[in-house]
Amino acid sequence: MRVISSPEVMNSVSRKLIRSGKSIGLVPTMGALHYGHLSLIKKARKENDIVIVSVFINPKQFSKGEDYERYPKDIINDRLKAAKFGCDILFHPGNDSIYKKDFATHVKVEGLSEAMCGTSRPHHFKGVATICLKLFNIIMPGRAYFGQKDYQQTVIIKRMVKDLNVNTDIKALPTVRESSGLAMSSRNSYLSCQERELAGFIYKSLKDAQRLIKSGERRSAKIISDISKALRSHHINIDYISIVDPATLKNLKHTKGKVLIALAVRIGKTRLIDNILVSS
Ligand code: PAJ
Repeated sequence: MRVISSPEVMNSVSRKLIRSGKSIGLVPTMGALHYGHLSLIKKARKENDIVIVSVFINPKQFSKGEDYERYPKDIINDRLKAAKFGCDILFHPGNDSIYKKDFATHVKVEGLSEAMCGTSRPHHFKGVATICLKLFNIIMPGRAYFGQKDYQQTVIIKRMVKDLNVNTDIKALPTVRESSGLAMSSRNSYLSCQERELAGFIYKSLKDAQRLIKSGERRSAKIISDISKALRSHHINIDYISIVDPATLKNLKHTKGKVLIALAVRIGKTRLIDNILVSS
């Protein structure tokens, strides 16, 4: 596996690969790789000649007071894991090579970025869309792989690619979970043993909501209130719980057809997100 840190070198390697007829699959990450990331790499391996994994902790998607400074870093193990799962090139650029001193351009996907995670993280998706477009322009992948765990992010990236005519096919893959149901996340490493146990109730509350819908409940307010009560009873603080149309992310008063239940909670100082798609 080759490791490249310069965007210019990465771009010229990608150009050569494309000229020689190779298909490129990109898996963008912020590192501290876990089985969620590795499932994306595995899928990219199956569908492309060349697999590129980017590891870059993007400062622009963190607000002041968030965990940018302490975000987990484990590049040595990331290299081993990425290579083991079939990555050909690890792109690991430095901050200064991605954001030059006079950097001034941002991408904002309006209408999809403001609600849900956008409420408590108003600049987050602008940072995400900007770095993803930069990665797509540097690497020019035919396909890029994203996780359903960050559902809103995936919808936003799909829209950006469509609106801006980016030649990258966005693939969304299912959430990989621990045996407790907890969605794997680099941020899970912040949790103490006791907090990790509590975190198992997040997915349980979503599964309970799914059962409630399957048993005929249609009122979003009632479903949200049940999830909220269950989580609060375990001292889990709620950032938001939303029931939305999976395509438009608009709130639904009543569930009909396929709906997305998405939430963000705080356990201690750690903010965690999860979601479930339910057919009603
Ligand atoms: P990061 O949190 O490292 O996640 C990288 C990719 O892995 C995202 O597409 C995310 O949805 C996916 N992923 C994370 N946990 C997963 C799980 N348990 N199961 C399946 N997929 C999972 O998301 C980001 O980084 C950044 O915002 C990024 C897109 C790299 C832009 O900086």
